[in-house]
Amino acid sequence: MCGIVGYVGRRDCTDVLVSALTKLEYRGYDSAGIAVFENGKIAVAKTKGRLSDLTAKMEREGKPKGHAGIGHTRWATHGEPSDVNSHPHSGRRVTIVHNGIIENYKQLKQFLIENERDEFLSDTDTEVVAQLLDFYYDGNPIRCIRKVLHELRGSFALGIVFADRPETVYAVRCESPLIVGQGQGEVFIASDVPAIIKYTKDYYLLEQGEIAVLKNGAVQFCSLHGRMLEKELHTADWDEDSAEKGGYPHYMLKEIHEQPVSVKTTITPRIEDGLPDLSECGITPETLGKFQNIFIVACGTAMHAGMVGKYVIEKLARVSVTVDIASEFRYRDPLLTTNDLVIIISQSGETADSKAVLTLAKKTGAKTLAIVNVKGSSIAREADMVIYTHAGPEIAVASTKAYMVQLSVMYLLAFEMAYAKGRIDRDECRRLTSELVKMPEVIESTINSVVDMCQFVSTKLITADSLLYIGRGLDYALSMEGSLKLKEISYIHSESYAAGELKHGTISLITDGMPVIAVATQNSLLEKTVSNIKEVKARGAMTIVICDEEADIDPEAADYMIRVPKLAELLMPMVATVPMQLLAYYTSVNKGNDVDKPRNLAKSVTVE
Ligand code: AGP
Repeated sequence: MCGIVGYVGRRDCTDVLVSALTKLEYRGYDSAGIAVFENGKIAVAKTKGRLSDLTAKMEREGKPKGHAGIGHTRWATHGEPSDVNSHPHSGRRVTIVHNGIIENYKQLKQFLIENERDEFLSDTDTEVVAQLLDFYYDGNPIRCIRKVLHELRGSFALGIVFADRPETVYAVRCESPLIVGQGQGEVFIASDVPAIIKYTKDYYLLEQGEIAVLKNGAVQFCSLHGRMLEKELHTADWDEDSAEKGGYPHYMLKEIHEQPVSVKTTITPRIEDGLPDLSECGITPETLGKFQNIFIVACGTAMHAGMVGKYVIEKLARVSVTVDIASEFRYRDPLLTTNDLVIIISQSGETADSKAVLTLAKKTGAKTLAIVNVKGSSIAREADMVIYTHAGPEIAVASTKAYMVQLSVMYLLAFEMAYAKGRIDRDECRRLTSELVKMPEVIESTINSVVDMCQFVSTKLITADSLLYIGRGLDYALSMEGSLKLKEISYIHSESYAAGELKHGTISLITDGMPVIAVATQNSLLEKTVSNIKEVKARGAMTIVICDEEADIDPEAADYMIRVPKLAELLMPMVATVPMQLLAYYTSVNKGNDVDKPRNLAKSVTVE
């Protein structure tokens, strides 16, 4: 989704804005622009396309020179990607950049037209906000912003400059994320920390309705009601290197290779005396033991991690777990009680639908637990309890290491819950935990052992128009993620099916040479899965089987076999995930796609 940056300091503002926007490219965008105070006037440069197009345009037409300004990468919502719809947008005296959606922009536009403000150039909701700010501007920026905030409905973060307030940047947030970076005599705004990490690790989190005023290298905050605020300064616990490619051709590959370390950093502090210990996250065995129902709600990959969680928690703790897609759950009037636990999983902690579910769950009195990667994100701050995954910044749009750490937290929760409910004894809990502790090493060796085969098999996939992922039980949960990964970056149509469900319709799709990737790591279901593999093979499918190194699978059933280390059945997802990620990665590379920034996708989906 859109990215916002802003700067006030001594450096060349245009350079800082462009460099900061580069670090937000992962969010997905189709146009870019900046507005900089140049000799007391606001100079705007914007264009459809990539940041390189913006830079080229500025080289041709002149680069704004100054020390304060705002910048934006746009992911189109209202109006097609075009020069004129690109941000910044301006009223007569006000120029803004915006992330989010203004739901009532049509009514506001009508109001402006009725008041003889009909100077709209674009199709965007953002321009309406610029005009509205201009309409109410009486020389007092804070008063004007507060007035407009009361009229806007939706989710938004804004960076604002007023023509008669040179060298000053205003920022405000409501739902959409925004941070304020504090450097040595310079200040920044950004949608996310990676944008400013090159300049400073210190930042403030802007809360709902708070306004920031950046001037003379310093920042002041005031509330929606106009009260001055003192805010806590946070320090990022990672540096620029963590957000760079570090020699890998793509962030996605780097992040796949970072999984062992990410898992280690996530689980190690949560193990005490060989047992899971989530007390630092506000979770005790007593809390976990008392819930009647568990709801795991999330979107995309995070929801798939929840699917694995369901199987593992139900199996070990014998508690009913419902997994749901956040955009569905929030509108289906869910049956929640004070005895229920709602777990929201989110890498970014800013996903609009997941956030809405959290708000809804809190209203019902259910307990809420967030499993989140980005520190201080909205979901993390609003949930009753939070378990941070320590994956570090995930830049590639296709989630890999964040999924892996979400899985590892699912295991910790399941083990602790099963123990708290008396379903497993201390020794069994210790044994399971010790298996989990071995995962970083096992994942590392899996990456090394399957990489060549995945690279080779991917060459067999690139010509496919469509393929199926199949599996049973945990393998089905896993295949959902494998299928999503593949389709989002290779653009090959892919669906995941419960292997036993194929005969109820989907098997009619199988034609000669159609790839079917079967995940077959669950020994107790192996024979049944192999029968399903043979059924598709008999109808012409090209079969690729992901199984453990000891699995006894008829070589006739599989055209290609990718073998991973053999672990306890329940833990197999931690290794079987790896070949699915690498298959998606190399298929995308072989097709010449933009692996890290797949078309139409945004890293953090902050609108519905
Ligand atoms: C995964 O590869 C996707 N980019 C996407 O499905 C993602 O997992 C989903 O949008 C949820 O994001 P979140 O974890 O930040 O809430």
